[in-house]
Amino acid sequence: MTGMTSSARPLLNRRLAEFGTTIFAEMSALALQTGSINLGQGFPDTDGPEEVREAAVRALRDGRGNQYPPGPGVPELRTAVAAHQERRYGLAYDPDSEVLVTAGATEAIAAALLALVEPGDEVVALEPYYDSYAACIAMAGGTRVPVTLRPHFDGGARFRLDLDELRAAVTDRTRLLLINTPHNPTGTVLTREELTAIAELAVERDLLVITDEVYEHLVFDEAEHLPLATFPGMRERTVSIGSAGKTFSFTGWKVGWITAAPGLVSAVRSAKQFLTYVSSGPFQYAVAEALALPDSYFTAFRDDMLAKRDLLATGLAEAGFEVFKPAGTYFITTDIRPLGESDGFAFCRALPERAGVVAIPNAVFYDHREAGAPFVRFAFCKQTAVLQEAVKRLKS
Ligand SMILES: Cc1ncc(COP(=O)(O)O)c(C=O)c1O
Repeated sequence: MTGMTSSARPLLNRRLAEFGTTIFAEMSALALQTGSINLGQGFPDTDGPEEVREAAVRALRDGRGNQYPPGPGVPELRTAVAAHQERRYGLAYDPDSEVLVTAGATEAIAAALLALVEPGDEVVALEPYYDSYAACIAMAGGTRVPVTLRPHFDGGARFRLDLDELRAAVTDRTRLLLINTPHNPTGTVLTREELTAIAELAVERDLLVITDEVYEHLVFDEAEHLPLATFPGMRERTVSIGSAGKTFSFTGWKVGWITAAPGLVSAVRSAKQFLTYVSSGPFQYAVAEALALPDSYFTAFRDDMLAKRDLLATGLAEAGFEVFKPAGTYFITTDIRPLGESDGFAFCRALPERAGVVAIPNAVFYDHREAGAPFVRFAFCKQTAVLQEAVKRLKS
């Protein structure tokens, strides 16, 4: 198959034509070919807690979740998600009507957009964005309206949301705001002031909000993760998305969830039931146990990532990059212009040969490619020795 039929009509439908292949596939292949250290894709190279793995084994052996689990997710996990939201944020959700388990955050994003967006609706999203947002908005027939996070250098390099730009992006056709905090790839954690403004805008213009908070437990220094649903007027209009992949380092299990008001959960479930219907049976039981781990687990996990962030950030700065030290997530965005480079694509394609390290050009996360051209993303969710070796290679 060549991608064309005899009538010369492309096989891939028009809505998805621009999303043919991802940079991740190309870069991972390059990593293999060149024996490079892959700091491109964001997955940990160490598995999560042993007791959580054991919980999955127990569930498998006990025959829990080996057949289709209930559509909304197993009650144990829905209860654990609700308890987690209550314990961490004081947000009370009813496990039966206000929690829905999904195949990772990826399915939560897809199902929420497919459920809530009509063709022609505009979806305002923070650019650069996680790559599935654009594809899912397109599948829903929506129009994406990017609001670009821009670099600022006062009091440390950081990407910031321009609230006037956000307000100006909302039109009479806007259906929802798609927010991500902590933000991949910039590492920005939206502040109380920014979230207050987003909430006020959503209430004023009567917008729905989808908020992707999969990095909620990876927040560093003075930054604080504030769920959008805790702001006035937001609980009833917000679909909040979480994932066990990032918090417990089991990205292959694909266990995610949404919390939202009953009407929103019911709408998202309508779309979700025809995507996967259900997934990850035994893992759902294990993640229920993981969410109940003591605070010490979450603190130790964050501290470990913080040390890794500092190792890689220092190394990248010493190698000559401008580093946007992330307040959250496990990604570091850098500016390559101090190295005399300006094209992140060309830089990332050459880096495996030059230095034996793979990174991702941030431009792939932008509609305004030029706005992202000089930025390159490195993941630091890797073993310390791997990061040390990467730093050594980058410096030489
Ligand atoms: C911002 C963001 N949302 C969602 C996901 C996907 O999460 P999951 O693996 O749970 O589908 C990722 C994974 O990298 C992400 O970075």
